[in-house]
Amino acid sequence: MEESKVRKPEGKLGVLVVGANGAVATTFIAGTYAVRKGLAKPIGSISQMATIRLGKRNENRFPKIKDVVPIVDLNDIIFGGWDIRDESAYTSCQIAEVLSSSDLEGIKTELEQLRPMKAVFDQNYVKRLNGSWIKTGESKWDLMMQLREDIRHFKKENNCDRLVVIWCGSTEIFIEMGDIHKHLNKLEQAMKNNHPDVAPSMLYAYAAISEGVPYINGAPNLTVDMPAIWDLCKKNNVPICGKDFKTGQTMLKTVLAPMFKTRMLGLSGWFSTNILGNRDGEVLDDPGSFKTKEESKLSVINTILQPKLYPELYGDVYHKVRINYYPPRKDNKEGWDNIDIFGWMGYSMQMKVDFLCRDSILAAPLCLDLVLFIDLAQRCGFSGIQSWLSFFFKSPMHDENTVPEHDLFIQSIKMKNTLRTIIGETPVDFLDESMD
Ligand SMILES: NC(=O)c1ccc[n+]([C@@H]2O[C@H](COP(=O)([O-])OP(=O)(O)OC[C@H]3O[C@@H](n4cnc5c(N)ncnc54)[C@H](O)[C@@H]3O)[C@@H](O)[C@H]2O)c1
Repeated sequence: MEESKVRKPEGKLGVLVVGANGAVATTFIAGTYAVRKGLAKPIGSISQMATIRLGKRNENRFPKIKDVVPIVDLNDIIFGGWDIRDESAYTSCQIAEVLSSSDLEGIKTELEQLRPMKAVFDQNYVKRLNGSWIKTGESKWDLMMQLREDIRHFKKENNCDRLVVIWCGSTEIFIEMGDIHKHLNKLEQAMKNNHPDVAPSMLYAYAAISEGVPYINGAPNLTVDMPAIWDLCKKNNVPICGKDFKTGQTMLKTVLAPMFKTRMLGLSGWFSTNILGNRDGEVLDDPGSFKTKEESKLSVINTILQPKLYPELYGDVYHKVRINYYPPRKDNKEGWDNIDIFGWMGYSMQMKVDFLCRDSILAAPLCLDLVLFIDLAQRCGFSGIQSWLSFFFKSPMHDENTVPEHDLFIQSIKMKNTLRTIIGETPVDFLDESMD
């Protein structure tokens, strides 16, 4: 595609965050305000910090992505969103305790002004949460229509040129894909009939896409990972991506597993455990929500290692993932991995990884990049699943005809090559030379 075909990022971009008062959302929002004011650096953000090689290596052209790819300027972002708690983003930041009060001081005014719209919420889908800032309606369809009205109202009030919706809300209970998720007319009927397999997140997604607004799924929820929604995207020419931000332990898995496979080292077991004490940890303490997260975390290794191709190496892997709610750690998660591998003649070895990370600090730059890149995708006229954004997700979405790509470095090449194509540059052939 030639650059001229990409609509310029003119006007304001409204970013509507579902779960706008959560730890990830407020860290993302506060950080963006701070970067905008020159009070912090956007560390971890590809769109703001990474360079992209253009042309042959010896041409020595390594501009920053943000200088050559037509993404929105951070000053043109307007935040809004929904949550079940009626409090300002400033109060939520204080409760989350991710950012220090000194970091919040310089952006206090902006954060205090930011209050969520009433949420569509049902405790049956997130058992450990309780809220009062909730819409009421006769049916799920009616609630979805109220969300559409919110979206239209926000766009008009804030004079936005375009919008993006990003789910930073809680992980819902596990919902198996059924018939109602496969056909658009059945999904619509199910909303009208209050079918139990229509979760609140699906109502936000349906509302956004119906309004022509791209949707990003940061949680492992089913939400947009279904043919009914893909049909809706096609109908409205809207891009979507998901699911489940790839931040800590899974990011490590998608680097280490390709390493074992490239060296033809065998794997007999991978035990991953986490302790965390934020609200997300509390929500995931419920077996229904944990099952949704577990499915997302487990899919990675099998897809990368291809046990059917290498049965002697990966045919019998014991893979276990645990998440334990441990309040003293708050947002500062600790993730341990014990990896049992084997080498020459079958001799066993072990690798231990102890990652003391910060959940929301890792997730916030992903939110920013995803918002900017999916807006770019829409201005390029892309619709449906954006597999070039797989880089950011634990369970990259794909349709029935494709397989997901999990390897972090292949994902990065694909993402940068898509950006090169968008700006009319030649994609890098990584067999040819370095792929930076
Ligand atoms: N932090 C990470 O590294 C990471 C990585 C991958 C995925 N995630 C996912 O991101 C999501 C957010 O994580 P968090 O740590 O900010 O959790 P959090 O509990 O702090 O925030 C979630 C917010 O969503 C709100 N919410 C729940 N249901 C809602 C609904 N129906 N409508 C509107 N608001 C709703 C809650 O009130 C809360 O404010 C979780 O699903 C988590 O699993 C986080």
